[in-house]
Amino acid sequence: MTAQLIDGNALSRQLRANVAARVTALKAKGITPGLAVILVGDNPASHVYVRNKVKACEDTGMHSVLESWPASMTEAELLGRVNTLNQDASIHGVLVQLPLPAHIDAQKVIEAIDPAKDVDGFHIASAGALMTGLPGFWPCTPYGCMKMLESIGYDLKGKHAVVIGRSNIVGKPMALMLLQNNATVTICHSGTKDLKAMTLQADLVVAAVGKRNVLTADMVKPGAVVIDVGMNRNDEGKLCGDVDFAGVKEVAGYITPVPGGVGPMTITMLMVNTLESAEKT
Ligand code: GUN
Repeated sequence: MTAQLIDGNALSRQLRANVAARVTALKAKGITPGLAVILVGDNPASHVYVRNKVKACEDTGMHSVLESWPASMTEAELLGRVNTLNQDASIHGVLVQLPLPAHIDAQKVIEAIDPAKDVDGFHIASAGALMTGLPGFWPCTPYGCMKMLESIGYDLKGKHAVVIGRSNIVGKPMALMLLQNNATVTICHSGTKDLKAMTLQADLVVAAVGKRNVLTADMVKPGAVVIDVGMNRNDEGKLCGDVDFAGVKEVAGYITPVPGGVGPMTITMLMVNTLESAEKT
């Protein structure tokens, strides 16, 4: 193996310890940071995610509220809950777990969250702030990737970054964060004609597609940094990313593993956003 691992668990522990210390300081001033998580329906993966979010709040000393509603909840009822939490002074972050049942307009619900409590960074006000370089909440997964790059002292200025994937949650905000840090950015997606020709030019590749083996060793420039945002299952049912880890680790300079890479960083950055929301009150 030539690549060095970027350990998301170790970095998360460090960052969460810092969050916990700041929570303690805030509590001394009479403010306990609070996160409300709304779950609608019984998507098993969503249940795991929200449990981990609530546990992270407990571990860092924050207050959390988990609202679990049946899939039959109406859009109007959900908008009502969001509105109530928007007004609740003990809550500094409001998060509606996605996906929502098909009869609910997810975008409408996200836009109902007070942008001052949009710790997921999905509101168009947050997206607009990132786009224009103004202060605002950054979506947690790409924000976590930026922290991983920072942890290895990676200077993005003048580097060519290739982002594979163009989702509103990862690909697009990732590209904007890299751009803001002076990288030259290429966004690739399902319509890209020659992905390998693009990735072979990259000093940094972020794979965020949700499909196994999107990036293989022959597609990576020797020494490149590879960040794997994927969360997939292989044929044996084991968690794996979008990157062929076994092959790419022999070529890359740095690589994030799955599990233990970007995954834990997402929840860590949610804690950071919630804390910072409370620090602003
Ligand atoms: N579903 C999968 N990831 C996320 C996330 O980061 N936030 C929310 N709200 N829903 C998700």
